[in-house]
Amino acid sequence: MKNKTSLLFLIGALFALIVGVLFGLLASLQYIIPEFLKEYIPFNKMRPFHVTTVVSWIILCATGSIYFFITRIEGLKLFSAKLAKFHFIIFLLTGLGIYISFLTGKMEGREYLAYSPILTIPILIGWIFFGVNYFKTIAKNVSNWPVYYWMWGTGIVFMIYHLCEAHLWVFPYFKDYVVRDISVQWKSYGSFVGSWNMLVYGIAIYLMSKIKSDNSLARGKTVFFFYFLGLTNLMFGWAHHTYLIPMQPWIRYVAYGISMTEWVVLIHIIYCWKKSLSNEEKQSYCMAYKFLITADFWIFLNLILALLFSIPAINFFTHGTHITVAHSMGTTIGINATILLASVFFIVSKIDPKFNINQFLIKKGYFLFKGSLLFFWCSLLIAGIKKSYWMYFSENILFSEMQDSLYFVYIAIFIFGFGLVIAIISLATVLLKPLLKTLNT
Ligand code: HEM
Repeated sequence: MKNKTSLLFLIGALFALIVGVLFGLLASLQYIIPEFLKEYIPFNKMRPFHVTTVVSWIILCATGSIYFFITRIEGLKLFSAKLAKFHFIIFLLTGLGIYISFLTGKMEGREYLAYSPILTIPILIGWIFFGVNYFKTIAKNVSNWPVYYWMWGTGIVFMIYHLCEAHLWVFPYFKDYVVRDISVQWKSYGSFVGSWNMLVYGIAIYLMSKIKSDNSLARGKTVFFFYFLGLTNLMFGWAHHTYLIPMQPWIRYVAYGISMTEWVVLIHIIYCWKKSLSNEEKQSYCMAYKFLITADFWIFLNLILALLFSIPAINFFTHGTHITVAHSMGTTIGINATILLASVFFIVSKIDPKFNINQFLIKKGYFLFKGSLLFFWCSLLIAGIKKSYWMYFSENILFSEMQDSLYFVYIAIFIFGFGLVIAIISLATVLLKPLLKTLNT
C-alpha cells in the first residue's frame, strides 16, 4: 500500500477512542468518589479531557475513512499526498497542544472547545488542507457526484465556517452582549455537530452502497432529499440549543421539525437497505452490517428521546440534567461511533480479506457494546429524571441529600460504563492489529 496517511488517521482515531473512554470512566468514578484524582485531574478537567478526546476519535476516524475510500476503494489519485501528511501531523501536534493546555490549566475556551482558543488556528489550517485536497481530487476525476461526495464536501466547508463562528466570542462585539454571545455560541455548536454528521452519515450511505454493490443507492431521490434535509438542519436546526434565548416560536418549530424528519428519513434509508440485502451480502461484510443495524436502532431510540425533550414544556425540566448527557452520549456513541466502527470493520476487511482473527473477541465485544450502552444510557436517563424532580418538584431537600440519593444510579453508570469501555477496547485492539500490520509493510 503506497499512501498510508489514511491508516495513520484511523490508527490515531482508535487510540483516541481507547484513551477517551478511559477518561470517561475516570470521570464517572468521580461521580461516586468526588475526591478521586481531584488533586491531579479534577472533574472540571477530566470532562474536557474525555469530551475532546472522543470528539477527536469521531473527526479522525471520519477523515481517515474518507481518505481511504477515495484513494483505496475509488482508486482516485490524491491531489497531494504531502498535504494529507501535513494534515495528519498538524492534527497530531495540535492534539498534544490541547492536552498541554488542559494540564497547565489554560482552559479559557468555551464548553466543548475548552482548550486555549489559539489552538483553533492549526486545526483550521488542517481542515483547509483537507478541503483543498478533497475538492481538487474529486472535482477533477468525478462527474455526476453520488450523494456521499456532496455530504463530505459540505461537511468540510461548514466545519471550517462553524469552527470560526464558535470563536466569535473573542471579539467584544459578541462577548459584551450576553444574548448575542449565547446565541452565536450555541448556534455554532449545533451546526458544528451538524457538520461532522454530514461526514459520518455520508460514510453510512457509502458503506451501504458498497455492501450492496449498488451505486444507484447513493444517487436516488430519497438520499438527496436526506442530504438537503441534513443541510437545512445544519444551517437552521440549532434552535433547540437556544431555548433560553428569546426568539420567535416559529423558528423553534421549524428547526425541531427538520431535525426530527432528518432522523426519520435516515431510519427509513437504513431499514430499506437492510430489507433489500441478500444473506450473502450480509455475510460478506458481517461486522460492518451489524454495526450499521445497531446505529439504526440508536437513531430510533434517540429520535424518541429528542421528540420528547425538544417540546419546550418538557425541555424546561430536562435542561441541565443528565437527560441532556444521555442525548449527547446516546447520539455520539450510538449513532456516530457505531457508524464509524462499521466503517473501520469495512476498511479492515478490504485491506485484510482473511480477517478472521479473534472472532471470539469481536462477537463478545459486539454484544457487550450493545448491552452495556443500552443500560448505561438508561442509567443516565434515571439520573436526569431524579435530578429534575429534585429541581422542580421537591421541597426542603438539600443538594447533598439529592446527590446521596443518586449514589446507586452513579454506581450503575460506572458499572455499565465499565462494560462499555471493555467492549470498546476489545473491538479497537482487534481493529488496530491489521491496521498497524499494513502500516508496517
Ligand atoms: C465513544 C464513546 C463516548 C463518546 C463519543 C462520549 C461522548 C460524550 C460527550 C459528547 C459528552 C458531553 C455531554 C454533554 O455535555 O452533554 C460526554 C460526557 C461524559 N461522558 Fe462520555 N462518551 C463516550 C464514552 C463514555 C464512557 C464509556 C463513559 C463512562 C464510563 C463516559 C462518561 C462520561 C461522563 C462522566 C461525562 C460527563 C457528564 C457530565 O457533564 O456530568 N463516556 N461524553
